[in-house]
Amino acid sequence: MSELNLVDALATAREIAEEAGREVMRFWHNGFSQSTKSSAVDVVTEADQAVEVLIVKRLLAAFPQHHIIGEEGGGAGVPIEKAEYHWYVDPIDGTTNFANHIPVFAISLALTDADMNPLVGVVYNPVNGELFCAVKGGGATLNDVQICVSSDETLITCVLGSGFPYDKYTSPENNLNEWSRFLVRTRGLRRMGSAALDCCYVACGRFDGYWEQKVKPYDVLAGLLCVTEAGGTVSDYHGNDTPGFLNGGRVVVSNGRIHAEMVRVLQGD
Ligand code: IPD
Ligand code: CA
Repeated sequence: MSELNLVDALATAREIAEEAGREVMRFWHNGFSQSTKSSAVDVVTEADQAVEVLIVKRLLAAFPQHHIIGEEGGGAGVPIEKAEYHWYVDPIDGTTNFANHIPVFAISLALTDADMNPLVGVVYNPVNGELFCAVKGGGATLNDVQICVSSDETLITCVLGSGFPYDKYTSPENNLNEWSRFLVRTRGLRRMGSAALDCCYVACGRFDGYWEQKVKPYDVLAGLLCVTEAGGTVSDYHGNDTPGFLNGGRVVVSNGRIHAEMVRVLQGD
């Protein structure tokens, strides 16, 4: 693998996320058009598309040898099979919130190796200025202050986040059973509407855990690195964390201490 300075890559990603944040806020204040994608509940706005174009342009200029995968546009840069490094871009994670002027959404950028192992992650909420950053082996921060996961050891004292897939009204795999099982075993559940921020809330100890199915790599990769660098655990619903587990679309994220208990509940306990 050719040498890439991850701290420099993080600095560049952070600058790009902050510039993208200014652009998102311009739309937030001035208005935007919107349409739907896979179904009536899957919204995309003019801001998602414009901001992804901006981010991809900046990443291509900074990392011409890398491959870029964006939520709205597909691939750019060096073809995926030839690139050693891949960027996963979610221009607005939490589009439904953004479209409804609910201030809970984020720009999410992750750099991975060719096996989808995250190396750098940036998640930025431009409304409140919260910037989560992580670099593999270098820890995770919130606005430049080191963060770590919570220390709760049993589900009953825990607050968990989750989300529901866009095909929730046509597919029986819509997270309602899992939600019901956790509801009666925890202090509380939250549905924030941004998978990237859900993961970061686990990383900084606001949530003790998070689970979701049918997520895409660009939704969670940056947040997952924040969690592991903050001392937490990530896996699929079986507790498997081998590279590529995310291809199944199911993630469990926790402070580590409640991970086995969460996996048991997801297995139907
Ligand atoms: C969605 C959000 C939401 C999660 C969905 C994601 P989008 O991303 O992260 O919280 O429940 O699974 O698709 O569409 O807002 O970028
Ligand atoms: Ca997303």
